[in-house]
Amino acid sequence: MRPTRSFRPAPDSPRLALLRRSDRTELWTETVGREPSVYGERWTESDGRPYRSFEPTRSKLSAAIVKEWSGPVPAPGEAWLYLGAASGTTASHVADLAGPTGRVYALERSLRPFSRLLSLAERWPNLIPILGDAREPTTYGALVPPVRGVYADIAQADQVEIALTNAAHFLEGNDGCVLLALKTASMGRDATAVQHVRRAEEEMAQFLDLEPSVRLDPFHRGHYFLGGTVRAGRLPGAVPTGPPPLRERSRERRRR
Ligand SMILES: C[S@@+](CC[C@H](N)C(=O)[O-])C[C@H]1O[C@@H](n2cnc3c(N)ncnc32)[C@H](O)[C@@H]1O
Repeated sequence: MRPTRSFRPAPDSPRLALLRRSDRTELWTETVGREPSVYGERWTESDGRPYRSFEPTRSKLSAAIVKEWSGPVPAPGEAWLYLGAASGTTASHVADLAGPTGRVYALERSLRPFSRLLSLAERWPNLIPILGDAREPTTYGALVPPVRGVYADIAQADQVEIALTNAAHFLEGNDGCVLLALKTASMGRDATAVQHVRRAEEEMAQFLDLEPSVRLDPFHRGHYFLGGTVRAGRLPGAVPTGPPPLRERSRERRRR
């Protein structure tokens, strides 16, 4: 028997429950999945509906919401492309937020987390795992229909270009949202974390109406949450993305 709670869903996000306590904020998503728990999160019920705790220490999206991210979040019925799904910690919550009529196309390039993502998808009917490299959207283009949003958490030096290029390929009618969990430590030592964020914001602001970025410390050190809604008429096609920077290429070679 699961414990029961009484949640009031967030007004603008009906599958999200947010409880502000004096010492912390609790987030829960109404789940479309089946137990067991994905990463040790708690399960409960409210009004006969199953919920999972959405832990800010484990998910950058949860941390962003706890830290008052004011921009878009996945909503019921929407389709999202998720870049860097790993084994599905956050992707499972994005799928919860998208609900039974929404879809999450969850891309991951490393085999080990991808195999866990595959078994997660057996319990999350609206989560579609795709093995692929986010730098090569044409290789998985046939598997992803037009989507409402692109969520990127790939911790790469060229993470901004990758997110924007995928947005240009997959956002429905050149409209929709881009959310990016930015890891500044992956962006080189030629600039401070704040400078990296400012550069990322400038690049994204060419295409998006950006929401105020959120710093994810202390939940995720050196990470920021950026994003917004595509400005009409922008993202005309592929956003230019060069080859990965040298440092990244030598890492790729070591991985092979
Ligand atoms: C920080 S982890 C993602 C954590 C995950 N988003 C979560 O919150 O549950 C970054 C992931 O991005 C994946 N990744 C990195 N570069 C990628 C690329 N070019 N294409 C697809 N996945 C990539 C890595 O293999 C890794 O699993």
